[in-house]
Amino acid sequence: MIQVAPKPTTELDIEALDAELVSKHPKIIMERALSLFDNISISFSGAEDVVLIDMAHRLGMPFKVFSLDTGRLHPETYRFLEDVRKHYDIEIEVMYPETAAVEELVRKKGMYSFYEDGHKECCGVRKVKPLRRKLSTLDAWVTGQRKDQSPTRSDVPVIQNDGFFGSPDHPLVKFNPLANWSSEKVWLYIRSYEVPYNPLHERGFISIGCEPCTRPVLPNQHEREGRWWWETADKKECGLHAGNLKQS
Ligand code: ADX
Ligand code: SF4
Repeated sequence: MIQVAPKPTTELDIEALDAELVSKHPKIIMERALSLFDNISISFSGAEDVVLIDMAHRLGMPFKVFSLDTGRLHPETYRFLEDVRKHYDIEIEVMYPETAAVEELVRKKGMYSFYEDGHKECCGVRKVKPLRRKLSTLDAWVTGQRKDQSPTRSDVPVIQNDGFFGSPDHPLVKFNPLANWSSEKVWLYIRSYEVPYNPLHERGFISIGCEPCTRPVLPNQHEREGRWWWETADKKECGLHAGNLKQS
């Protein structure tokens, strides 16, 4: 295992690192990420991105995990988060939305406003703000984004400067080790290494988000069609990866 001393973010040549890592196995990318940064955390949604946790675990290096509990996840996802916590014997830092903001949204617009005026506001309160709060404490984060997940993700690099949640005063690096992997490869990995998975995958769910905004897909439907299905494909980012919208 190559151990590299952590460097301040500003000294990293992101373009050179991307060129070096672009064709590497996600586990190698994870190893570089964990070697380069102490203050880094895996952003875990409770879906197929469990492979990130499995890879970090197999590397035998210390790693941290956080998850955004929107309050609207499927019961299966909550149980899966707990299964993963126990299986890998890890802490999962669960981030919650600000109580007053959720209360105000629900009081003014009810529990299902996203079906009427889009998911942006609810995602903003329940996901993006808590994510911003978490990322303000980190130097780098790791996501399970892949190019094949959505038209908005077709340019996702394996490493990038996160100019959306980071700033010149607080540089933030984002690793996407699975960027160039297909869904097929992810599932081959899950089966080969007997990685625990969310049981919703056995019921036609591929991409999994909040319960009211996710539904199973039919054979040959794209996985993203099961997310915010009442909106068009180019709007299907909830703000967690809003930088993708600027690129696409
Ligand atoms: S989303 O933006 O449309 O909801 P998606 O479900 O495709 O994202 O997941 C892509 C990656 O975003 C995940 O692999 C994970 O890194 C991060 N992510 C999405 N939802 C969450 C969540 N609830 N908690 C933590 N990370 C998340
Ligand atoms: Fe709200 Fe749906 Fe976004 Fe979840 S995915 S935060 S329920 S709009």
